[in-house]
Amino acid sequence: MSTVADIIRQVQKRFARAGLYYGHGTETARDEAAWLVGHVLKIAPDKLATRLNKPIPPAALKKIDALTAARIQTRRPLAYLLKEAWFAGRKFYVDERVIVPRSLTGEFIAEQFQPWIDVKRVRRVLDLCTGSGCMAIACAQAFPRARVDAADISAQALAVARLNVKRHRLGRRVRLLRSDLFRALKDQRYDVIVTNPPYVARAEMKTLPREYLHEPELALVSGRDGLDAIVRILAEAPRHLNPGGILVGEVGNSAPALQGKFPSVPFVWLTTSTGDESVFLLTAEELVRQRRAFRTAS
Ligand SMILES: C[S@@+](CC[C@H](N)C(=O)[O-])C[C@H]1O[C@@H](n2cnc3c(N)ncnc32)[C@H](O)[C@@H]1O
Repeated sequence: MSTVADIIRQVQKRFARAGLYYGHGTETARDEAAWLVGHVLKIAPDKLATRLNKPIPPAALKKIDALTAARIQTRRPLAYLLKEAWFAGRKFYVDERVIVPRSLTGEFIAEQFQPWIDVKRVRRVLDLCTGSGCMAIACAQAFPRARVDAADISAQALAVARLNVKRHRLGRRVRLLRSDLFRALKDQRYDVIVTNPPYVARAEMKTLPREYLHEPELALVSGRDGLDAIVRILAEAPRHLNPGGILVGEVGNSAPALQGKFPSVPFVWLTTSTGDESVFLLTAEELVRQRRAFRTAS
């Protein structure tokens, strides 16, 4: 009988032959195969290594085969086929109403944005452009004394976020709001604002692998240079931050374009454990100093 390790190898080979794109929660064919097999066998990713020699029942083999074929034929990200995504070590419900959680900001949330903020004084957090609610939920868990607002313009995304807030039992501390960026937040102020807004340049969409076409365009594209949303956020953030507060924003491949648009702004580019630098941090005080530059550009 085939073992878990055998089947992971077989699925990995089929994925590699098909030339799939990874990047919606995994980086390699091996990781994607392990996730698929672990899901069918109901083994959490961190437990899989201890179960590699176990035999696989025939019914599970059939399911694994069907999911492998669907992933190859449709190019749908595996997260949508499984209706699950892992973010900051936790499981979230996802479907095509939201992008697949993969924000690099998760690492900095887990570190409570140290040394940039006094954890004791974090009482109000905003996750702007919340999608599945993954960052809002991770923030609520990292800052147990904080109330978190999670805003998105998409009612469909908010429906998914609602499921996740319920699943993580955070309904008392995470509030979901439909808002075009800050518009519905009126005079609300926060100690921490996190945002992973859309940041893909319109022309770049045509160059993306097929997997991205299954994600909502509203979650990806932001104007000609990809910077429309983030520039508006930078211009409006000072009115929504408490003194000593911070704005943490993720801009992916558009990081050089953002720095190039505002050459004199001292964005702090946070470095992830893998060396990526596409998440910036600005203090409330710095945002106030740069207000004119951001307002003129927005
Ligand atoms: C890149 S996704 C990020 C989702 C989630 N934060 C994550 O990291 O997985 C961007 C989100 O911004 C939302 N969005 C787009 N334009 C918006 C706007 N003007 N105001 C609020 N949310 C917006 C989209 O609906 C989408 O859910």
